Amino acid sequence: MTINHVMVIGAGQMGAGIAQVFAQAGLNVKMNDMSQDALDQGLLGIEKRLGRAVEKGRMTEGERKAITELLSTTTDLKDAADCDLVVEAVVESMDVKVSVFQQLDEIAPSHAILATNTSSLPITEIAAATQRPEQVIGMHFMNPVPVMKLVEIIRAIQTSDETYQAIEDMTKKLEKTPVEVEDFPGFVSNRILMPMINEAVYTVHEGVASPEDVDAVMKLGMNHPMGPLTLADFIGLDTCLYIMEVLHEGFGDSKYRPCPLLRKYVKAGWLGKKSGRGFYTYD
Ligand code: CAA
Ligand code: NAD
Repeated sequence: MTINHVMVIGAGQMGAGIAQVFAQAGLNVKMNDMSQDALDQGLLGIEKRLGRAVEKGRMTEGERKAITELLSTTTDLKDAADCDLVVEAVVESMDVKVSVFQQLDEIAPSHAILATNTSSLPITEIAAATQRPEQVIGMHFMNPVPVMKLVEIIRAIQTSDETYQAIEDMTKKLEKTPVEVEDFPGFVSNRILMPMINEAVYTVHEGVASPEDVDAVMKLGMNHPMGPLTLADFIGLDTCLYIMEVLHEGFGDSKYRPCPLLRKYVKAGWLGKKSGRGFYTYD
């Protein structure tokens, strides 16, 4: 199938990055959010990143202009009516995602593929909420999207081979590397990453070491580009907690219990970099 028109729903840190990479690949992209402020911030972030690419000589001014012209914003989901592909990147909540997919199912053309960037939620359950489950799929980008090469492609039990192939082809067109994964809690990425982050929070909670020292051990000792607590702040502590809850409930195994300190930070509104405070503070 041919994909020319794309809508990205949610203009947060993931949605704005996803919209950017689609536009860089020459596709028309509408960025949707229920918040005009989020759309403005998302667009500003894209403009800054493209500006830096021009400054560094990785992109010409003409290319930057052409990419910007492919991007538009809207708060109206009905604008998905002419899209071939919709990628949802709203908050990590099954209720919110099901509501978005049910509306999209009514609005998007019958041929359109509906993809979700969920970090951990069952694609099979999201697909079952629509009348086109064979055209629903997980397209899991990594943060920061413009930099990270991986896209996990997650098949719901209902996903057709045609849908899978179209998303694999699109991932390559975005100059990313697709990895096919079955639909189980946390897929591969977060099943492995998030328990490490949760254990790092327990290490602080139990007074074994400070956040700075936990991060120093993993950065300098294991050559990770960021320590696990810096990474947790970067991802968003709310997103980390949602993912741990999905793993805990999905596998029914106490080894995935979220650390009480993680819950406490989220309850305090200390969500990491995006809220100005998490394990560290940000301007
Ligand atoms: N958005 C876009 N681009 C960014 C960025 C951001 N938030 N942060 C950094 N970059 C770009 C910079 O612009 C820079 O590119 P240029 O040199 O061309 O300008 C490049 O990345 C390198 O940046 P820096 O030199 O400032 O910093 P760095 O070398 O430390 O790299 C990093 C930054 C790429 C983020 C690196 O620290 C890293 O790889 N961290 C780990 C990221 C990671 O693990 N991501 C996965 C998170 S889990 C996930 O996404 C799944 C989930 O469901 C939760
Ligand atoms: P975020 O909080 O930065 O952004 C979410 C955006 O969605 C906000 O701008 C919000 O206004 C908007 N939104 C919420 N409900 C909406 C609705 N009904 N309609 C339209 N817009 C709506 O979150 P994020 O970190 O970008 O995460 C988004 C999704 O991507 C989540 O499912 C998350 O699990 C997943 N994800 C996150 C990361 C990460 O590192 N943060 C990595 C991969 C995947």
